[in-house]
Amino acid sequence: MINLHEQARQILRDNDKGGYTLPTHGLYPYQWNWDSAFAAWGFTTFDPDRGWTELETLMLGQWEDGMIPHIIFHQPDPGYFPGPDVWQGRGPIPSSGISQPPVAASFMAKMLTMHPAGEARARAIWPKLKEWHRWFMDWRLDQGAVCVTHPWEAGRDNAPDWDVNMAAINADDVGEYTRRDTSHVDPAMRPTKYDYDRYIKLVQIGVSVNWDQEKLLAINPFRVADPTMTFTLLRANRDLLAMGRRFGEDVSDIEDWIKTLEGGAETLWNDAIGGYDSRNAHTGRFNGILSNASALCWYAGINDARALPAIEAMLEAATYGLASYDPAADGFEPVRYWRGPSWPIMNYLVGSGMAEQGIDAAADRIRADTARLMQENGFAEYYNPHTGAPAGGGTFTWTAAVWLGWAGDQPEKRQGAA
Ligand code: DGY
Repeated sequence: MINLHEQARQILRDNDKGGYTLPTHGLYPYQWNWDSAFAAWGFTTFDPDRGWTELETLMLGQWEDGMIPHIIFHQPDPGYFPGPDVWQGRGPIPSSGISQPPVAASFMAKMLTMHPAGEARARAIWPKLKEWHRWFMDWRLDQGAVCVTHPWEAGRDNAPDWDVNMAAINADDVGEYTRRDTSHVDPAMRPTKYDYDRYIKLVQIGVSVNWDQEKLLAINPFRVADPTMTFTLLRANRDLLAMGRRFGEDVSDIEDWIKTLEGGAETLWNDAIGGYDSRNAHTGRFNGILSNASALCWYAGINDARALPAIEAMLEAATYGLASYDPAADGFEPVRYWRGPSWPIMNYLVGSGMAEQGIDAAADRIRADTARLMQENGFAEYYNPHTGAPAGGGTFTWTAAVWLGWAGDQPEKRQGAA
């Protein structure tokens, strides 16, 4: 029997398109931004050269304004909608017009520790990451917190966070289109048509101004300050700063960005839910949603005792890691994408952040639960947090990377996995 480490490595190799890695065949046939950063880290555990190449390929999609898109369409694939003709991105390679949680700098810092010989490649990537982070600081802030302009930008596509904001979007004139995701995966595990109409409407709005950020600011009905983005960018800036100092770069603006984002993170604290919440930037109102994004504060270097009780209660209410949405809340759906399932990638970001901040019991539990998911049910995109049943796409790149770099990287687990 092949052990889980070898299975995980094989998934990365099978999803490798030569320079970039698909999240999974069929459902996601291109390079996705944050998936790719996880892939780079996963490869570095056994093939560091290929890991660095992954980040370099991601940088190739960078737009002139600094933005690194959430999807880079290297080769046309009719199995995915919306493709390059719908997005009409204006980068050097066909792409989407929005970004995604900026975790690449943080994975690059890890890769540099794992493979110091990659320093010359890291030095070449560093300024590109800095320009990308500057783009967020220029175009996405609300009171110092980072906004998303499309639910897909947060990576948490159909999270309940966005419900109020989505309801305010009129998508009556979105036109006819054919979804492809539901031909690859059970529709019960995917966003609804109501969601998709609004996802596509927001793309049409971006295209109508040729993705000009200044114009978008004025017309986009969807602008939500989000803990996922705020915490990942804060962490990424800390990592970028440390690498920049080592490389002898000018880091004074990164120091300022960190202060701004620390202040912005505090504006997302919502006492009413005992957690960090998303906020509609148009109305200033909190959305009142307790999700796993609140637990990213530790990953961002904010050791906040206020946030712990609600996260511990969410952990108690699930059997396999941290659910993406509070299992006790109305509307919790255990297998519908970001409305309940346990996601290994979020479990990793949360669990590793907690471990760094000394929240050991919860960190150990999240890591052990995440390992069990893969030991019992393979490398799925996400899992039912009560039963551990796999959901979404299979043979998933970032889940395999989380096994190689973290969940499976425990001596006692490794024996059990053989
Ligand atoms: C999708 O197609 O579901 C993606 O999550 C968009 O990024």
